[in-house]
Amino acid sequence: DAFAGEGVWRYADALPLDRGVTIQEGGTPLYRVPELRDDVGVETLRIKHEGMNPTGSFKDRGMTVGVAVAHELGVERLACASTGNTSAALSAYGSRAGMETLVLLPAGKVAAGKVAQASLHGARILEVDGNFDACLDLVQELAARGEAYLLNSLNPFRLEGQKTIGLEILERFRADHDTVPDRIVLPVGNAGNTAALYKAFRELVQAGDLAVDDVPKLTGVQAAGAAPMVEAIETGAGAVRRWDDVETRATAIRIGNPVNAPKALPGIRETGGAAVAVSDAAITDAQRALAGAGIGVEPASAASLAGLRKLREDGVVGSEEDVVCLTTGHLLKDPDAAAAAGTESELVPDDLDGVLAHLDGRT
Ligand code: F0G
Repeated sequence: DAFAGEGVWRYADALPLDRGVTIQEGGTPLYRVPELRDDVGVETLRIKHEGMNPTGSFKDRGMTVGVAVAHELGVERLACASTGNTSAALSAYGSRAGMETLVLLPAGKVAAGKVAQASLHGARILEVDGNFDACLDLVQELAARGEAYLLNSLNPFRLEGQKTIGLEILERFRADHDTVPDRIVLPVGNAGNTAALYKAFRELVQAGDLAVDDVPKLTGVQAAGAAPMVEAIETGAGAVRRWDDVETRATAIRIGNPVNAPKALPGIRETGGAAVAVSDAAITDAQRALAGAGIGVEPASAASLAGLRKLREDGVVGSEEDVVCLTTGHLLKDPDAAAAAGTESELVPDDLDGVLAHLDGRT
């Protein structure tokens, strides 16, 4: 049954429907990483790996809700702009619901695994000669004209589903550590997750299930080449200034106009969090470090650990803190980035002596 009370629907009380179009999203691991914790120098470090969702990113949590709402509304065509993961998730959930999907991608700037997913799940893929922000402008116009139902994170039902990331973190962390984390560090693109986690925690506070002083400090990380949110936090601006030229190897967060900023900026400020920009080199280092702990993530995901490292060095994060880093997408999403960051293969002859000689360094 495509409509069932599984996955994130365990948290139906916090969601706008009782059940959705599910592929058993959610329930992702909260890994312990003692070596990385010692390396970073914090009290506790755990990695919430959202790459372990059905399509390999956190987007599934939003789509299970958003596509169900679209189905109830009886819309004919689902659409999104995407740096890749949203399109992969929409295509999968759309096909599970038997609905037509249209995705607009920035031409040449989407990692191979994500395009492959959208393609095999049967989406119509439009490659736009522009960046992600231009794609989002276009798809909003399409939706406004009634041509499609918008499933970007501007759609509030998406963010309702993504609240379950925060709910799962608190539940697991409380069970294991008898407390809640001081801080959650997450990569920021459109700032949907930042907004969703903040909403989840505010609702818990309102329900009396979380003390206001215990709300984890929401800490956003952007790539230095696409960091309008960091700029707004650093300058204390009331709104984010759109960056027209953005560039980073972490293509998932190659975004200059974070549309959820009005909801996310208060989340960072009112929880006492922070925002930090990291270089592509630091992102790759963090991707290798995570992989060295057995956790395979795509570049954008590694931004969280890279940001935590930087904030520790800068003294913004203290050594006594309990921290959770969110890793948002799986390694296989971007095989080219993984291969570029990893070891190179070696050509050997087809005989054992030759292989042994090679391993001994004799050839
Ligand atoms: N990490 C990954 C792997 C992502 O795919 C995204 C966003 C983010 C982080 C940023 O999350 O927008 O909630 O701040 N990807 C979108 C997409 C834009 O189209 O797949 P955010």
